[in-house]
Amino acid sequence: MSELHSSLRFIDLTTVSEGCGLDLTLLAYPSADHQRIKEVIAELLANDVQSLAFHLQVGKMIPFLLGKGGRGMVFMGLREQRKVAVKVLRTDAAVKTMRFEAENLRHANKEGIGPLLYSWSSNVIVMQYVDGQSFGRTIATSISRETAAIIDKTLEQTYILDTVHLDHGQLTNASDHVIVTPEKTPVIIDFSHSSRTRKPKNVTAFASYLIRSINLTQSKDQNLVSALKHYKQNKSRTTFEALKQAIAHELLKTF
Ligand SMILES: Nc1ncnc2c1ncn2[C@@H]1O[C@H](COP(=O)(O)OP(=O)(O)O)[C@@H](O)[C@H]1O
Ligand SMILES: [Mg+2]
Repeated sequence: MSELHSSLRFIDLTTVSEGCGLDLTLLAYPSADHQRIKEVIAELLANDVQSLAFHLQVGKMIPFLLGKGGRGMVFMGLREQRKVAVKVLRTDAAVKTMRFEAENLRHANKEGIGPLLYSWSSNVIVMQYVDGQSFGRTIATSISRETAAIIDKTLEQTYILDTVHLDHGQLTNASDHVIVTPEKTPVIIDFSHSSRTRKPKNVTAFASYLIRSINLTQSKDQNLVSALKHYKQNKSRTTFEALKQAIAHELLKTF
């Protein structure tokens, strides 16, 4: 456990209520609505989340935030003695329920993609806690054989998503939407903008992100650009393999 995590205290949710000395406002962010805080705690318990990690911030015990997005606030909890990530719907989110995100995450899970979904209800998603660093950080340092292997594995996952018609929707900015575990496994997270009706563009979105962020076309190699075009025109294992090879070839030049 990291130094940061060792300062965390897991607090039993059955003992948690307003006026118990904890600052619970993050559970209904940003409105801090009292009723919503109660609902979220009740939903967490109904989803078998026994406790939530808290830490001290400017003299107050507040829920430990794993991450904050436009749709949700992600906390760390314990469910059946296992560390879990708990995504709580923001009160100002564009949607009223976690239902669609949960259903699409379950769909991705069937293909071995995304954090495992354990349980969900209207305001919360309880899923596998993914320990690791963001993809953005992973590629920011330097590109190595190891990073190239991570990129290859991520591309495979985006191809699977394309074939099962699940468009992630946010892979043009993969920096914060892929977590790389200490075992070097990339995990695609955040299915909040995913769709099973939109035309899937996972491979092309992720490839465009790579081209942009690693500056793969620096060498003016037209091979990659045309491989991308061919895949767009005809999504098949053959065009995908050609694209993967073109990316790998470009990455080699950056080592
Ligand atoms: N399963 C998870 N395990 C660990 N951290 C997570 C997990 N899901 C989300 N996070 C963290 O929370 C942040 C916000 O989550 P995200 O799903 O992207 O929310 P939003 O839909 O609001 O953008 C992520 O960038 C990541 O840092
Ligand atoms: Mg997000």
